[in-house]
Amino acid sequence: MAILVSGGAGYIGSHTCVELLEAGFDIVVTDNFFNSSPVSLKRIKEITGKTFRFYEADMTDRNAVRKIFAECGDIDAVIQFAAYKAVGESVQKPLEYYSNNLNCTMTILDVMREHGCHNFVFSSSATVYGDPQSVPLTEDSPVGKTTNPYGTTKAFTERILMDCSKADPSLNIAILRYFNPIGAHPSGLIGEDPNGIPNNLVPYIAKVAVGKLEKIHVFGNDYPTHDGTGVRDYIHVTDLAKGHVCAIEKLARKPGLVIYNLGTGHGYSVLDVIHAFEKACGKELPYVIDPRRPGDIAECWADPSKAEKELGWKAQYGIEEMCADTWKWQSGNPDGYNTEKI
Ligand code: UD1
Repeated sequence: MAILVSGGAGYIGSHTCVELLEAGFDIVVTDNFFNSSPVSLKRIKEITGKTFRFYEADMTDRNAVRKIFAECGDIDAVIQFAAYKAVGESVQKPLEYYSNNLNCTMTILDVMREHGCHNFVFSSSATVYGDPQSVPLTEDSPVGKTTNPYGTTKAFTERILMDCSKADPSLNIAILRYFNPIGAHPSGLIGEDPNGIPNNLVPYIAKVAVGKLEKIHVFGNDYPTHDGTGVRDYIHVTDLAKGHVCAIEKLARKPGLVIYNLGTGHGYSVLDVIHAFEKACGKELPYVIDPRRPGDIAECWADPSKAEKELGWKAQYGIEEMCADTWKWQSGNPDGYNTEKI
């Protein structure tokens, strides 16, 4: 029995592959390298000392997905990471986002049905909660008022999965709503490697720390938070990856459709994160206060107690380890995976 990890060369996918292999699972990885590098696959093998099957494939290509299921013959579950994920770009290219993100998931579900595969884990996001009415967010907090097409693809996909679950009670689906994944594997061998100038806070800070960018831009210091800057629930990507292993174990107990927040339950402001990163890299980091970024919310953090109760999962790492591991990855790989040519 094997687990298909679609988008397994990406940031969260690669860390999940490591945790699955270390937990003893056999995996089949797919990726089209649209926003990822084959170097990450080599590094997964280096970290775990294990090997796995790999297909370079686009998950919207039905024939390619069919071929993978037919050739492998033993796929028992799918963890679906393959998607576009840049919030700003999604506003410029809504059709590309809706088409790619929805079709990847629908194609996989359809082929799973043809092959009698009943277990599916979906990579969702706290972005489905939109601008929260109150924090912490529980899985029952209102969803759907998303602020950009990327977020809406996640909300729509969740809805599609709920309908599929109603239509086919033999399907087991875990929807995992991630808060803000940061950090890198403690080995420093795999990590987040965004194309061009990073949109997200921690990859941006890391580039400033390594000297590739001049200064950090803090988007607004007039939010109603403890220091005026935006507050988020940052979660170490290794903790997040372990949450997927727990979700796979849960699906084996045939729960139907389940939804879990994966966060730490703690909120940190932009300035808190900058200061934690300064400690990790041992230098002061220059920053300026800029206006608020359109679409940003003041604060967002999880109530992760449902995942603890039902999955036996709880985040282990704090903000210090998240920053230290990001720094280990970034300082060892100043140009990300391009530092090493394959
Ligand atoms: C965004 C996405 C979320 C996605 C996450 C990936 C939305 C609305 N948000 O979350 O779905 O899962 O990225 O981690 O869909 N900030 C700065 N300067 C910067 C960059 C960010 O001050 O250069 C601030 C932001 O204003 C915010 C915080 O840092 O307060 C975190 O921003 P970011 O890392 O971009 O994540 P989110 O916007 O929370």
